[in-house]
Amino acid sequence: MERAAPLRWGILGAGLIAGEFAKDLRFTDAGTAVAIGSRAQETAERFGEEFGVPNRHGSYEALVADPEVEAVYVATPHPFHLDGAILALEAGKPVLVEKPFTMNAAEAREIVRVARERDLFAMEAMWTRFLPHIHEVRRLLAEGVLGELVTLTADHGQWFARDPEHRIFKAELGGGALLDLGVYVVSFASMVLGTPERVVASSEPAFTGVDGQTSMILTHAGGAQAILNTTSLAKTATRAAIVGTEGRIEIEPQFYRPTSFNLIMRGEAPLHHDPAHEGHGLRHQAVEVAHCLREGLRESRLMPLDETVSIMETMDAIRAAVVS
Ligand SMILES: NC(=O)c1ccc[n+]([C@@H]2O[C@H](COP(=O)([O-])OP(=O)(O)OC[C@H]3O[C@@H](n4cnc5c(N)ncnc54)[C@H](OP(=O)(O)O)[C@@H]3O)[C@@H](O)[C@H]2O)c1
Repeated sequence: MERAAPLRWGILGAGLIAGEFAKDLRFTDAGTAVAIGSRAQETAERFGEEFGVPNRHGSYEALVADPEVEAVYVATPHPFHLDGAILALEAGKPVLVEKPFTMNAAEAREIVRVARERDLFAMEAMWTRFLPHIHEVRRLLAEGVLGELVTLTADHGQWFARDPEHRIFKAELGGGALLDLGVYVVSFASMVLGTPERVVASSEPAFTGVDGQTSMILTHAGGAQAILNTTSLAKTATRAAIVGTEGRIEIEPQFYRPTSFNLIMRGEAPLHHDPAHEGHGLRHQAVEVAHCLREGLRESRLMPLDETVSIMETMDAIRAAVVS
């Protein structure tokens, strides 16, 4: 049976993605944004007005203490995810934490530790995981239709104007292509192939010194390889392919957002899968959180905490392996 009332969200940080999340919640009755918390009351008021969010708080502390808030969505730049998540957990609230979950694996382990200690739900907001086409891809993988997996390719490149103040280029705000965009391809490889055994990587800096482009090869048990690229210097095709001995799945364009894909069995014509979709797609992760909380779960089966930690470990390993 569906939940009678929508899950009441409090949004921590009134930035760009926070607004997109609030807008996309309008496509579901599983959740609603009841509160916004900002470092400034004026920003909270403006955000509340624009997105129809009734409770407006001028501090993150006031947001997490709001008794109407049932779950907190942490939507600050990545260096502040740890503090935001711990603040909410210590106030007794379950958390959905923007991607990348944290700056590194040590921080990720800290959030997981506090969530488990307090017996509260936590999840990384890797929204791609919960999209309709990814559900279809996972179903096909679980059925083993591709045979033995051999190669995975994925790229995530976006063009950003050369603004040294933008968080993608600013080290203090967690800048760099790998953390912001690369986490999508690393997470995708993790979903399909698991944790890699070996990592090689090469990076080129952007004009501020943070990584502007990083290419990676991850090798998995059994020899399957993921060949991944990320850049903040140019818009790439953002395609992904999963290739097995019996066939392949090609997801394009923009594998990380709602899209379609082709299943191409060896020697056969492509079968096009195009799940219906409207809106941005950010709400599916909120639907998953509502479902988990209703079921009394402390983490999502689709985006488990141990996998989030493993993804951050892979990100650490990539940075350690980088040959510039
Ligand atoms: N899922 C997606 O598709 C997607 C897309 C974009 C970004 N993201 C992720 O979401 C997070 C936020 O990205 P965004 O693009 O929304 O960032 P943004 O527009 O810069 O907003 C982040 C918000 O965080 C708050 N904040 C707290 N401390 C801050 C500080 N020292 N400097 C700047 N802002 C601070 C600010 O809100 P207040 O002033 O209200 O406190 C700010 O508006 C990042 O981790 C990013 O990776 C996800």
